[in-house]
Amino acid sequence: MAQNKPFIMDHPLIQHKLSILRDEKTGSKEFRALTSEIAALICYEATRDLTLEDVEIHTPMGPMTAKHLSGRKLAFVPILRAGMGMLDGVLTLVPAAKVGHIGLYRDHETAQPVEYYCKLPSDIAERDVIVLDPMLATGGSAIDAITQIKARGVKNIKFMCIIAAPEGMNALSKAHPDVQVYCGALDDHLNGDKYIVPGLGDAGDRIFGTK
Ligand code: PRP
Ligand code: URA
Repeated sequence: MAQNKPFIMDHPLIQHKLSILRDEKTGSKEFRALTSEIAALICYEATRDLTLEDVEIHTPMGPMTAKHLSGRKLAFVPILRAGMGMLDGVLTLVPAAKVGHIGLYRDHETAQPVEYYCKLPSDIAERDVIVLDPMLATGGSAIDAITQIKARGVKNIKFMCIIAAPEGMNALSKAHPDVQVYCGALDDHLNGDKYIVPGLGDAGDRIFGTK
């Protein structure tokens, strides 16, 4: 199967907000706000191919043929915990979307994802799905979450992250070449502990203040 080329965002607003997000001096309150804002900006690009249909409306000046969203409905699936930080932002753009949750954490010794929760909308197979996680490091968590979603019959899946490592990007596109990736920045490499460099540290800890 042909691999979808990832979208790496070059928008100045995203780059500016990312610099503040990465800064170790940025506290949890601002970190949460920025994560949500960056997610909304990436979502704007990730929803560019939504289909439209004509609708007849009346403005105060008279009738016109306008556009409404049509076609398949959306579901967002944040990967717990850190993916929750992106949810408010994307829901401001698509408030009618349903939301599923997949709980995964990386084992500290092996960096392998450990599943602990999965609750998806009952009609998810009829929806297009956008998976949310700020960090794509080894790719293990994203690959696992997308495998779980595909097992429910979902055909069209996108993945949104804020920072990716080349290692995770390659692993994800190899495991799921049909999944389009939208990413705020592609960083340099993973360190020995499988953290993204330069990255932003531990996204979940910075969002929830648990460090
Ligand atoms: C982080 C992050 C991703 C995962 C990325 O979650 O939010 O889910 O690591 O790493 P990977 O690409 O190597 O799988 P973490 O395991 O720290 O859990 P948390 O969100 O609950 O803090
Ligand atoms: N998870 C994070 O939160 N940060 C990283 O750099 C890698 C995985």
